Amino acid sequence: MSASESSSASESSPVALVSGANRGIGREVARQLAERGYRVLLSAREEQKASAAAAELAQSTGAEVTPLQLDVADPASIAAAAARVQADPGKLDVLVNNAGVGSDFGVSGVEPDFAKVQAALDTNFFGAYRLTIALLGLLRESEHPRIVNVSSGMGGVAEMGGWSPGYRVSKAAMNAMTRILSTELAGEGFLVNSACPGFVKTDMGGPMGAQKPVEDGASGIVWLATLGDDGPTGGFFRDGEPVVF
Ligand SMILES: NC(=O)c1ccc[n+]([C@@H]2O[C@H](COP(=O)([O-])OP(=O)(O)OC[C@H]3O[C@@H](n4cnc5c(N)ncnc54)[C@H](OP(=O)(O)O)[C@@H]3O)[C@@H](O)[C@H]2O)c1
Repeated sequence: MSASESSSASESSPVALVSGANRGIGREVARQLAERGYRVLLSAREEQKASAAAAELAQSTGAEVTPLQLDVADPASIAAAAARVQADPGKLDVLVNNAGVGSDFGVSGVEPDFAKVQAALDTNFFGAYRLTIALLGLLRESEHPRIVNVSSGMGGVAEMGGWSPGYRVSKAAMNAMTRILSTELAGEGFLVNSACPGFVKTDMGGPMGAQKPVEDGASGIVWLATLGDDGPTGGFFRDGEPVVF
């Protein structure tokens, strides 16, 4: 295991940053990582929401949970957040690119709303890609760097169907990013994977009828974030099982 199993935060605790962690799957991933002894940088686009969620998780887990303002759709916000992580704690072992929007669920691909397609790409793809590149220097200093891209089965090209073009394309692009980075970072100890959480009962999935508990949706992501050095890289997984890209 790359992580300490201790639940007490210390200088030696591995550090994980989770984007979009004020609610939903991201918040649960942050909680599970905190329980495993990670120092968690809990990021949210609204500072007050990051602070409130971090305080609650620090209290419920006993771990060190640090709020971080981060809007992944804003390159200036990414640069500012990366500078703050560089200053404190000055290290990073795990990046979970979780922040996402379902801007055009149900919209027809033959009658697209290009503003919504753009919104999906800005957050789900460019946000994750830019954040990864901004933090790559710190991750390279880790002995066990892990990147988990929270994707979706809707981004799998092999079995792709219709509707939701922006969301689908943004997650397909994210999966391509997983393959590109895992290939180029092979040999540097990185494990870079995509995760589909399944159909999870959150603010995103709940209104569409999702029933999967958020704890179960998060656990497959946490598995990839805490892989041992002999774990897979360049893969796409749901609940620990491979999914077709
Ligand atoms: N739920 C599902 O069934 C399901 C299925 C497959 C994949 N996923 C993926 O799982 C991830 C989490 O989904 P969820 O179900 O937990 O959704 P959610 O409950 O809607 O939460 C989305 C999170 O992303 C944040 N976010 C959105 N835009 C952001 C931005 N520009 N910068 C930073 N944070 C931003 C939101 O922050 P605010 O509170 O500020 O809006 C919120 O914290 C997403 O990437 C989603 O595509 C979910």
